[in-house]
Amino acid sequence: MTRTVLRGRVLSFYRAPEGIEDTESHLYLEDGAVLIEDGLVAAVGDYADIGESGAVVIDHRPHLILPGFIDLHLHYVQSQITAAYAGSLLEWLNTYTFVEEQKFSRQGHAEAVAADFYDALIRHGTTTAVAYCSSHPRSVDAFFAEAQRRNMLMVGGKVMMDRNAPEALCDTAQSGYDDSKALIARWHGRGRALYAISPRFAITSSPAQMEASRALVAEHPEAYVQTHLSENDAEIAYSMELYPDSADYTGIYEDYGLLGRKTLLGHCIHLSHREAGVLAETGAVAVFCPTSNLFLGSGLFDRQRLLGRGVRMGIATDIGGGTSFSMLRTLDEGYKVLQLRGQRLDPLASFHMATRGNAEALGLEGTIGSIAPGRAADLVVLDARATPTMRLRMATVESLPEELFLLQTLGDDRAVAEVYVAGARVKSTLAGL
Ligand code: GUN
Ligand code: ZN
Repeated sequence: MTRTVLRGRVLSFYRAPEGIEDTESHLYLEDGAVLIEDGLVAAVGDYADIGESGAVVIDHRPHLILPGFIDLHLHYVQSQITAAYAGSLLEWLNTYTFVEEQKFSRQGHAEAVAADFYDALIRHGTTTAVAYCSSHPRSVDAFFAEAQRRNMLMVGGKVMMDRNAPEALCDTAQSGYDDSKALIARWHGRGRALYAISPRFAITSSPAQMEASRALVAEHPEAYVQTHLSENDAEIAYSMELYPDSADYTGIYEDYGLLGRKTLLGHCIHLSHREAGVLAETGAVAVFCPTSNLFLGSGLFDRQRLLGRGVRMGIATDIGGGTSFSMLRTLDEGYKVLQLRGQRLDPLASFHMATRGNAEALGLEGTIGSIAPGRAADLVVLDARATPTMRLRMATVESLPEELFLLQTLGDDRAVAEVYVAGARVKSTLAGL
């Protein structure tokens, strides 16, 4: 049995904080220790109590040890088109995205991009992500095979899209169903892999494909479901032209039985009162994608309103509509979006969201997203003095929330000192990884 102790300041959430003073919401240890045995957290506590357990000690002081970040929505096949000069969503999709995703039909391309994609996740401290692959099954095989090599808990699926896109990217209702079914059988529950049934959005899925999605969801309650909802005004208008009998955009997915506690809905910016109510009732998760929503000019997510309606929520980068792999950058942009809404996102709430909150959105809070006995040792070590500008500000920081706020406002991959996946050190500024 391999036993390692990480020494440092430890932060892990028990639940969503109810304000910046809510010290009961989390565990914080000034001189803490995380005992890792065979890839799992075996114990967490004061170093004085569990440091001398005969295990190898890695000293990360004065850095902060947190659960690894969880990214609830991104497109690994768009890794090479972040920062594409586009206007709004539909233009961006047609000009860059649908062109880029066609490359994944080529032998070897998906494998090469997957390797770079996981390198980027690790560099930024993200240890679990929920990803869209392209419509080609081989892109899913490459995605999960690379995750397996790295022992990472990843969720993903083949995009289903059978219209309003280039021919070379389109499947059919039947082939999308057959391919998804085969991929679920091949990957879901294999190692740490989990499958997400992924009809892209209403515009690119015909009613026949929506029916096929309904069948997949009914036949595979163990799988997640992911799609896009209410991101952009033109998208909403076109969706309603294509599905005139549905009450609203959310109603389209509701009509096809796609909404439930395992459903992740990217964006959810322009929801009506009825739509928010449907999300709350079904337990579907609204995923806030701040860098993408700003970059594509899609609009300002209304967190307070959805919170008030009891809608489950998470946060994500949405690479490549999003502009950074970094969950720190994402939290910062999320803060600024909410500022424009006159809402405050306190740093405890934002770090909760990027760790335990996103784990709860996946129903995986018993496995990832916090540091507690029995949880996977998927961890990130953050250095709030990583850059000269951060060091300058740290000189006046006096509390943990201030430090977290500094990390999210000024931090990026340079602030990610170390990353552990299932107890293995995969990034280290100390060990030269
Ligand atoms: N809606 C449908 N497909 C996409 C996509 O790839 N990115 C974003 N941001 N929105 C979408
Ligand atoms: Zn997306």
